[in-house]
Amino acid sequence: MQGRRLATTDELIAIVSPDSEGPLETLTEWADERGLGLSTVDVGDDIGGVYDESRATLGVTLGGDGTFLEGVKTFAPREIPQLGVNTGTLAFLARVEPEDLEDALEEVLHGRAAVDSRQQVHVTAPGVDATGINDVMVQQVPPENPIDRKVARLDVYADDEYIGEFEGTGLAVSTPTGSTGISLSANGPVHYPVNNHTLQIVPLHTHNLGVRPIVVSPETELRIITRGQASLLVDGGRAHTILSEDDEITVTGADKRAHVVRTSYDDHFFTAITKKLGWSLRDATVPPEKRLESPSPPGTATTDCEGTDTVQRALTVATEAAKAAGEPLRELHGQVESIAVKSNKSDIVTEADHQADRIITTAVGNEFPDHAIFSEESTRQTGENADYLWVIDPLDGTGNFAHGNPNYSISVALIEDGEPVMGVVYVPETDELFTAIAGEGAWRDGDPIRTTDRDRLDESMLISGYDPDGSFLSHFYQESRGVRRLGSAALNLCYLASGSADAIWEHDTYSWDIAAGLVIARAAGATITDESGAPFEFVLDTDERRALLGSNGSLHPALLEHVADGLTTPAE
Ligand code: IPD
Ligand code: CA
Ligand code: CA
Repeated sequence: MQGRRLATTDELIAIVSPDSEGPLETLTEWADERGLGLSTVDVGDDIGGVYDESRATLGVTLGGDGTFLEGVKTFAPREIPQLGVNTGTLAFLARVEPEDLEDALEEVLHGRAAVDSRQQVHVTAPGVDATGINDVMVQQVPPENPIDRKVARLDVYADDEYIGEFEGTGLAVSTPTGSTGISLSANGPVHYPVNNHTLQIVPLHTHNLGVRPIVVSPETELRIITRGQASLLVDGGRAHTILSEDDEITVTGADKRAHVVRTSYDDHFFTAITKKLGWSLRDATVPPEKRLESPSPPGTATTDCEGTDTVQRALTVATEAAKAAGEPLRELHGQVESIAVKSNKSDIVTEADHQADRIITTAVGNEFPDHAIFSEESTRQTGENADYLWVIDPLDGTGNFAHGNPNYSISVALIEDGEPVMGVVYVPETDELFTAIAGEGAWRDGDPIRTTDRDRLDESMLISGYDPDGSFLSHFYQESRGVRRLGSAALNLCYLASGSADAIWEHDTYSWDIAAGLVIARAAGATITDESGAPFEFVLDTDERRALLGSNGSLHPALLEHVADGLTTPAE
């Protein structure tokens, strides 16, 4: 499933249309049974009095697409994810049917639903300043006498470049979420909405054969100048006005996206248009062999069916969980207010560590209820299946994070029979994803990575971890091309794996700092030992820190020689 995972829910706010009593009763009972707070408001009412931004809130709309659109207006500005339940008749946006409501909510609660960020449009015109998730229609004003023929004449510009004159019934500017039917009937394209933030301009009943649909980025500023009267409708009339000659409309991507929750009870996009609009490329019923999931980059799996290898599935779950945890970290980065000191002034934890911890442990626990989970920031969960243990550092490099430095990461590893077999390290600020499965390979953003093959110390770049007396730095600074101290042990190992460092050294590291990075570095060809040169053994020890020396292999003998010498600064 694409899109970030929705992993925590404390509270529900439902916007309820009239005639939705049945589904509301179901929702109320379901929330009561699970001890979740539920507030309900009528369509059009403000939620200011019931919304508490410190609680993880899910917005639910009970109604048709109209109620869903009201939900977007209410929930999107507050970045509340929204689940639409269709109690209307023909709905494209509110996709969960009332009979599936409880099952869909269970999926959300157990961290199995995904959230799509949907592009919105921002529209200004005389008397209008509105945001819409669907479309902006600029059309002719119907003549009083239906026999009179009237057209809209519109001059259209993209970022001040004149596109041309649109003459006809008008035009639609739509997001990927909106106007599928209108666009198709006007010979426009199918705008696939998943992870797509473009806007499209479709001429409606144009009189000019040369006018074609146009796709622009959400940053493009579209200007539409009316050459006579025209009506302006945003999202089917949620904002509307009649414009006069020479009025100017601007349309661009809105800053805030809507967060639409998808569960397995939603129709997929092409299934929905097949059923609802008679898409003619396939029968409405898809034969099982054609019900494909999306293709996977190397090293990831998207299917979750019986027989799928646990490690492959773990990699998918770890990736989704790490990316989901990355979102709040990006938001909180550089604005941390409260820092708690653990064992010493450098060993710190913030609310962000805990938030990331909750997201990852919920997602992993829900997908693998019988596995044991150890996370640096929470109590250890035991599992019935003694073979598997997850080792998680929800935020590695908290010092950097708390001081607004971008060098921090999220580290998730799976240990099978005591051996680290799967590792995911996600870097929220650069959106880089390092993944590996032992014996299969290591990847950055889906591309294979390898260590370097440099064998001369004086040409090598080294990274050190915590270096209490500065001896590694002072020693190797003389011997190598440079020594860097970056502040995230997990990331150091990924840099070794991907070749931006030739070797790394950690004076004393906890097992959760390096569990995922170890799989990634080893799978990319690194040699990892202790300071005596013995192969580094992974042990989950919550008290003991251990030294680690990692390199591309060819540098290892030279490094060990120096380390064995006690890291004394060479004589000048
Ligand atoms: C720390 C980082 C740092 C290393 C410390 C770790 P944390 O982890 O990995 O690079 O030098 O030893 O404790 O506390 O930010 O998760
Ligand atoms: Ca750490
Ligand atoms: Ca940590």
